[in-house]
Amino acid sequence: MKRIKVDYNYVMDKFVAGGLSEEKLDEYKEKAKLGLSRLLRMFDDGQAGFIGLPEQNLAPIKKFAKEISGKFNDLIVIGIGGSSLGVETVCNAMLPFGYNARSFAERGCFPRVWVADNVDPTKISSILSECQPEDTFVCIITKSGSTVETAANFGIIYEWLMAKVKNPKKQICAITDPEKGALRAMANEKGFVSFDVQPNVGGRFSVLSPVGLIPAAILGLDIDKLLEGAMSVHKDNYEQILTLSAIYMYFMDQGKNINVMMPYSSRLVSFADWYCQLWGESLGKSRTTDGKEIAFGTTPVRATGTIDQHSQVQLYKEGPNDKVFTFIEVLNHDKDRKITSPYEAYDYLNGHGMGNLCNIELKGTEAALKNAGKPSVKISLDLVDEFTIGGLFMIWQYIVPVIGLACDIDPFDQPGVEEGKDYAYALLGRKGYDATKAKFTEIYKKQDDFIV
Ligand code: PA5
Repeated sequence: MKRIKVDYNYVMDKFVAGGLSEEKLDEYKEKAKLGLSRLLRMFDDGQAGFIGLPEQNLAPIKKFAKEISGKFNDLIVIGIGGSSLGVETVCNAMLPFGYNARSFAERGCFPRVWVADNVDPTKISSILSECQPEDTFVCIITKSGSTVETAANFGIIYEWLMAKVKNPKKQICAITDPEKGALRAMANEKGFVSFDVQPNVGGRFSVLSPVGLIPAAILGLDIDKLLEGAMSVHKDNYEQILTLSAIYMYFMDQGKNINVMMPYSSRLVSFADWYCQLWGESLGKSRTTDGKEIAFGTTPVRATGTIDQHSQVQLYKEGPNDKVFTFIEVLNHDKDRKITSPYEAYDYLNGHGMGNLCNIELKGTEAALKNAGKPSVKISLDLVDEFTIGGLFMIWQYIVPVIGLACDIDPFDQPGVEEGKDYAYALLGRKGYDATKAKFTEIYKKQDDFIV
């Protein structure tokens, strides 16, 4: 039985004006096949390492998680972008809501978890005021080892640990490049336990490496099932990946510049964040692989059902027809509850499960958008668990590079993030950045008259 299904009825011209004919879909699937064959060739050549991650040996990760299990009340994960969004997705999907509000003793099974990503003093101060240094385990995750936000959060947390703990290295695990970078050097010098992110696994493609698996294993989640779910995508012969890639490429060519990811479950809100990074950073490019200038990409937008029915759906239905929608449906919601009407005016709710209400509202939105000629696909999960989350990760990790490579775009680089980062280094006074500072001063000119 397929645990993840893709329903693409409402992108077809049979149902939505301007949609795909069956012939067009076949044509775009051929294009997607080209992207897939380029991707698989890269993997055979030792690149695109995310494809091989489902087959990794999990024994060292499980052994390490067992060693520290039950010893700490809190886990702080330090990282940003590809080094935090996957962890957040797994926690959001698999841990009970409010898990950080209850004490370890009450829950017994896993530490509370905090993600130190942004450089926001209020956030890090709140995290540290909740945790005790003696009772906290820290995972610092940075593939490059040089990310400024991660270095800053680690600096503050390391000092906090050192002030109270005799041997802080026993409470730190570093996840980084096997050889290169400042964190690798520090981990080797200080003797932190460490795990490798292989150089051929890109940051935003690293959730199924130790980047996502170490925190998940420490939290007691089933990492075998995460990888089984990811593996099932290969076994499915790529049909879903080719179909979805074809659909998104077609609508890109039709000028639909916005891709809305709208899961109907609060457990998948972070998944939509993870997707936005993967899509935006991989596909927003100003050059083709052979150097031609281009303005490529569409804008990923996150939304949540049913919440955004009360916020964005007005725009989605009646605003510009410049979007393609991806809904995620959860067929069986955990811990479903029957609703009892609190007052006769609400009697129509009597006996409905809350999960069913959520899915009925999704059908309502699908129908309303279809009626307005707005295309949507629906991905249905039989339930949210490690298997389906692993599957979702892998499906999207394929779709994004398949589209990029089919359109002669490099989905694995991110040159556009460097310039702003370099200016920040220059302003921080980092060695070797004098010329960048001069360039910044030249560019960053403003007129007081335009400030009110
Ligand atoms: O996909 C990427 O490479 C980036 O988004 C990174 O994940 C992000 O910048 C964090 O990098 P690092 O893991 O090197 O700290």
